[in-house]
Amino acid sequence: MRMKIIDGKELAQNLRSEIAAGVASLKAQKGIVPGLAVILVGDNPASVSYVTAKEKACEQVGILSREIRLPATTLESNLLSLINELNADSAIHGILVQLPLPTHISEKAVIGAIAPEKDVDGFTPVNVGRMLIGEECFLPCAPHGIVKLIEASGINANGKHAVVIGRSNIVGKPVAALLARKETNATVTLCHTGTRDLERFTRQADIVVVAAGRPGTLTGEMLKPGAVVIDVGVNRIADSTRRKGFRLSGDADFESCAKVAGAITPVPGGVGPMTITMLLWNTLESAKRC
Ligand code: GUN
Repeated sequence: MRMKIIDGKELAQNLRSEIAAGVASLKAQKGIVPGLAVILVGDNPASVSYVTAKEKACEQVGILSREIRLPATTLESNLLSLINELNADSAIHGILVQLPLPTHISEKAVIGAIAPEKDVDGFTPVNVGRMLIGEECFLPCAPHGIVKLIEASGINANGKHAVVIGRSNIVGKPVAALLARKETNATVTLCHTGTRDLERFTRQADIVVVAAGRPGTLTGEMLKPGAVVIDVGVNRIADSTRRKGFRLSGDADFESCAKVAGAITPVPGGVGPMTITMLLWNTLESAKRC
């Protein structure tokens, strides 16, 4: 069987065309233009590049992005006031605060201040709770994109064993929950830094989602032949031959994994474009509810 490269860019592009059509029709029918506030505190280079990509994607589909760049010294109280203003602003349907925040600001307080009906990242306790009990909510973007990517690649997760590596609130925990939902119906093992003998679990997996934030976490010898690898990692590796001085690498060692896997997402061009697309999707959904 040939190894398949799962093209997140292509699927994201198809979905973005659908979203653009939805945005145009909402404008024509109700005169509403979806608006997303994108808040970045500080100038972490990876975060700058993520929010720039999000803003560009908004423009591509006709969503209005309000870019709010704040200095790293911003007080938590000022950020909370800004969020309260955006909660009350009828032109804004989604609020995104790029994480991580500077350490003097409580992420818990900031995320908790976002109105759940504008929480297009799906990070507030209300939306996380709704997701866990199967109520309608904004699903977190990377986990939602991963499930869509798996489905669109013709991979049926029903009854399969999915091993998730990483227990972050942004990816690991929610993707484990979504894969275990009845609609997806996978049997899920959640591995993390406390897991002993990681390979013992990954070798039993039909699907491995690696979101550990560390390059080389998953190698080919840790896989069962034919397994599906979803690589969520985006790591900058110093590379003087590149214009920017670095190249991107996932958490999986692509070369060795590709020799054993049945399908694998590349980095870049796998999960990343889907994450941004699901943010656009949620913003359109939020505007439709007005
Ligand atoms: N930081 C890393 N991933 C994300 C994301 O999906 N949303 C936000 N707001 N911050 C992030």
